[in-house]
Amino acid sequence: MKILALNSSPRKDRGGTATILNMFLEGTKDAGADIDLVYVHDLEIKPCLGCFACWIKTPGVCVQQDDMKELLVKRRNADALILATPVYVDGMTSTLKAVLDRSIPLVQPFFEIRDDHCRHPQLHQREPVKVALVSVSGFTELDNFDPLEAHIQAFCKNLAGEYAGAVLRPLGAQLPMFKQMGISVDDIYDAIKQAGKEFVEKGKIRPQTQQTISREIVPRSEYVKRINASFQQAIDSNR
Ligand SMILES: Cc1cc2nc3c(=O)[nH]c(=O)nc-3n(C[C@H](O)[C@H](O)[C@H](O)COP(=O)(O)O)c2cc1C
Repeated sequence: MKILALNSSPRKDRGGTATILNMFLEGTKDAGADIDLVYVHDLEIKPCLGCFACWIKTPGVCVQQDDMKELLVKRRNADALILATPVYVDGMTSTLKAVLDRSIPLVQPFFEIRDDHCRHPQLHQREPVKVALVSVSGFTELDNFDPLEAHIQAFCKNLAGEYAGAVLRPLGAQLPMFKQMGISVDDIYDAIKQAGKEFVEKGKIRPQTQQTISREIVPRSEYVKRINASFQQAIDSNR
């Protein structure tokens, strides 16, 4: 399986998104996948102009000259796509959204009805690409991912993807800290790697694996006290 993994966190390999994504990718690698990891923040990807030139004047080719050209080639050659993003105001990062918007050169302008819904036919007919979502949030509740996951599922139906499931980790950036504090998170690390294996071998991440990944680590009220104290300390030390 050829995987294109997009890490859209501006904190790149220092962020919580990278902690979780890299562990997931380890699992895919163990299962034999060939991985191309791209940090979207390093690329120049301008917002879509909405001109439809990629549909009418130069089918499949955007008028804008930036890094999306090469990314679309990578996307076309990949069997699987991993979209990694921190939750930003209940959704994905603006850089990842720009990538998704700029994917419309992959379809034709014509309408067809598929599964009782208007869709665009693909420009180059091919098997649907498998798509997994990897995300971390700052808040503790799992429902913080609901709008993001619904969006990615809809994107799959819209632009010829097959949704394989998600690795959703509340407080993902804090996992190494919990480990340092002696709070056991090893089962979560193992489940994230296992999810990578399942993605490659079965094309789906099992709901049970997803539940272990997202499980509560410390009670919410305890975490709220802890995080507030650490923010207060950070503010005080900057005075
Ligand atoms: C602009 C911005 C918006 C955010 N919005 C949310 C949010 O709506 N819900 C949430 O749970 N966390 C939110 N967060 C917290 C991030 O999801 C969290 O800090 C995450 O660990 C960042 O990932 P990273 O370390 O890869 O950058 C937001 C962070 C930023 C910078």
